[in-house]
Amino acid sequence: MKKIRLGVNIDHVATVRNARGEIYPSPLKAALLAEKSGADSVTIHLREDRRHINELDLKQIKSKLRIPLNLEIAATQEMMKIALKRKPPFICIVPEKRQEITTEGGLNLNHNKKFLKKIIHKLKKNKSRISLFIEPSEKDIKDSNLLGANCVEIHTGKFCNLVNKKKNYKSELKKIANIVDIGNNLGLEVHAGHGLTYESAKILSKISGISEFNIGHFLVGESIFLGMSKTIKKFKKIIRQ
Ligand code: PXP
Repeated sequence: MKKIRLGVNIDHVATVRNARGEIYPSPLKAALLAEKSGADSVTIHLREDRRHINELDLKQIKSKLRIPLNLEIAATQEMMKIALKRKPPFICIVPEKRQEITTEGGLNLNHNKKFLKKIIHKLKKNKSRISLFIEPSEKDIKDSNLLGANCVEIHTGKFCNLVNKKKNYKSELKKIANIVDIGNNLGLEVHAGHGLTYESAKILSKISGISEFNIGHFLVGESIFLGMSKTIKKFKKIIRQ
C-alpha cells in the first residue's frame, strides 16, 4: 500500500460558522474529528481578512491537535509574527489576494525573493517544516529548492478543472508528473492540493513521488452527505490504492 498522507483542510467549517456569526460548527471539533478519522495532518489558512479561520481557532487547534497542524500563510510580516509565536509543525506559504474567492495560483517566486528566503530560514529555525505553494513549473520548483524550502505543494487547480469538465487532462497530468520527478530528484518532498475531488485525487495518486495531498472544499462539502469521518476514510482509501 502506498503511504500518501492526507492533510484535511477545515477552513470551510469556519466559513459556515462565520456565515451566521455563530460559534458553530466548531473548527476545533472538526480538526479533532479529522484526527480521529485518520487524517495525517490538519490544514488551516489564516487569511489576512480572517474570512474563515481566525487566531483563536489557530490557538485552540494548535494546543489540542496531536497530529501535525499545517498552517497556510501569506508571506507577510504579520503572518510571520503569528507563525513564529504559534510554531506550527508545518507551514505552507501561499499567495494571497484580498478579492480572490480562493487561492487562485501558485506563488510568484520572482517577487520578494529576498524576503521569502529570509522568512523560510527564520521559520525553519523555529522548527517548522516549510512548503511553498507553486504552479507546476520547472523554474518554480528549482527556485523553491534554492530558497531553502523543505517541500513544495503543487497547485492542482488547472488539472482538477479539466477533470471536472471532462476535458483532456493528459498534458497537464504529464506536466505535473515531470515536476514531481524534478522535485524528488532535488530532494524536495512534493505535495499536491487545490480543487481535488475523489476523481482527480485518484488520478494524481498514481504519480509516484507525491507524498501528501491537502484537500478541503470538496471534502467538507462531501461531509454533508457522508459525514466527515467516512469521507476522510474514503479519500485515504482512494489515494493509497
Ligand atoms: N493547498 C493549498 C496551499 C491551498 O491554499 C488550498 C486552499 O485553497 C488547498 C490546498 C485546498 O484546496 P481545496 O479547498 O480546493 O481542496
